[in-house]
Amino acid sequence: MKSQDELGVPVPANKPLVVRTIKKVTKEQREYVLEKTEYNMFSFPADLTFVDFLSDSGSGTMTDYQWAALFHGDESYARNKGYYVLLEAVRDTFERGDNPKRSIDLILSGETNVKKLIDELYITSYEGGFVNGGIHQLTRPNAFIVPQGRCAEHLLFSTIAPLLKENKNITYYIPNNGHFDTTEANIVANGIKAINLFSANLMEDFPYDEMDKRNPFKGNMDLEGLEDLIQDKSVESIPLIYVTITNNTAAGQPVSMKNIKSVHKIAKKYNLPFFFDACRFSENANFIKEFEEGYKNRSIQSIVQEMFSYVDGFTISFKKDGLANMGGGLFFRDKGLFHKKFSINGDIGIRLKERQILTFGNDSYGGMSGRDIMALAAGLYEVIKQPYLNERKNQVREFARKLAKNGIPVILPAGGHAVYLNMDKFFEGTDMKIEDFGGVGFTIELLKHFGIRAVELGPFAFEWDKKTPEQRKGILNLVRFAMPRNVYSASHIDYAVAAITELYHNKEKIPKVRISRGAELRLRHFQTGLQPIYKS
Ligand code: F0G
Repeated sequence: MKSQDELGVPVPANKPLVVRTIKKVTKEQREYVLEKTEYNMFSFPADLTFVDFLSDSGSGTMTDYQWAALFHGDESYARNKGYYVLLEAVRDTFERGDNPKRSIDLILSGETNVKKLIDELYITSYEGGFVNGGIHQLTRPNAFIVPQGRCAEHLLFSTIAPLLKENKNITYYIPNNGHFDTTEANIVANGIKAINLFSANLMEDFPYDEMDKRNPFKGNMDLEGLEDLIQDKSVESIPLIYVTITNNTAAGQPVSMKNIKSVHKIAKKYNLPFFFDACRFSENANFIKEFEEGYKNRSIQSIVQEMFSYVDGFTISFKKDGLANMGGGLFFRDKGLFHKKFSINGDIGIRLKERQILTFGNDSYGGMSGRDIMALAAGLYEVIKQPYLNERKNQVREFARKLAKNGIPVILPAGGHAVYLNMDKFFEGTDMKIEDFGGVGFTIELLKHFGIRAVELGPFAFEWDKKTPEQRKGILNLVRFAMPRNVYSASHIDYAVAAITELYHNKEKIPKVRISRGAELRLRHFQTGLQPIYKS
């Protein structure tokens, strides 16, 4: 008799105990609503979709542990309980590896020993890491809670840009293995140029039946490109180096530890601060564990600890990784390179804190409710669990495998949180050109005919028509199906695979799309009006 681990299918990792009924909407009703909402995916009512793959951001299912933590939320204006619990959870997650303190349990277990609470939670003393504690967080703040990732990006870039310009009025560049749209927009809004350095192997073919065997880490940063950029533009024109884990803009592909180490080495050589966009850090760590030599027997916690030991700071959306429904943060190493470089005429942490208070509220809640803070802190302990991570990874992989088997051009191997279609290949043999926004036409038809929502992350989202030929090289032509954590099952995926395949076989009928309103708006894919042009 085989054992439970030898059956060839994984043991289930959880069971959903709340069910929401999907409404029986007709194609005609969706067609009407699409027209009334200018055919923009972001304007379509979610309640009228059957399956919503628009984003994995904040759209996941919380665990019972998180719901329990939520009830402990403290809505005090300053220094709510959750603030301390969250700072400890961030230290546990990113710095303590296999030796977490789990101070959250003091609160969840109703600890009444006041001395213990003071000594272990409320009046602690930490310095030198990503989260100063006690007096050091007051005098040298380095941990900033905000409602979501882009708020952290805004806080960071709007604070450093004036300092840079004051110091030297030159053109600045921030390289990334793949800037997310909001990251790029926040950088550009502050007068800095955003450069994508994708890995050269990103669009290479990969056999779908080898996804369980090997992974080429297509999310890596192009190291040669990075050296060339620094040499070409000068060290002083690069405020910092950014690496996104996993690389959402590059088809959700993971970044290897080897690549992270190499970027760290280059950053050190040129004395440049190195930051992560740490959205989906635990999914990235799980890829390292599965595929990179030397990490098989390491825990996710210790892999995360090692990854973060190479950086000077990070921005993060805690809405990713299926971690929580709300939350974001900016953290940097106390007295590290970033701290030194930007503490010009005063401590950079104090400057950031002032801006945080101006924009998001007291630093101990940062625009979050106390309940959200508790759910987020609890989520940091849930998201690193191996069975959950494996189940999620397998689900995304299975989705990609089923599409590939049907001949659909999907980027392989599958990334961590989403499946991406290669729309250049999808439209091969038709007269669709990149400026026709065929990916958008595809998402409109998929929603109209089958009630499935996906999103174009290509020439429309990344504004191909507004860019120079050089900048256009940094744009891929993709459509993304993002998987919210613990929301969908195999039946949703099978339905989606059948629908996507049907559209692929009818690709001649997919309309070109014109922007009917707001082509010039910033982050336009969230707000423009669109018009599909159907062949008569
Ligand atoms: N960085 C990356 C890599 C992201 O994927 C996102 C958001 C952000 C930053 C911004 O975080 O939404 O909390 O403000 N990505 C979502 C998505 C929206 O659908 O991929 P946020």
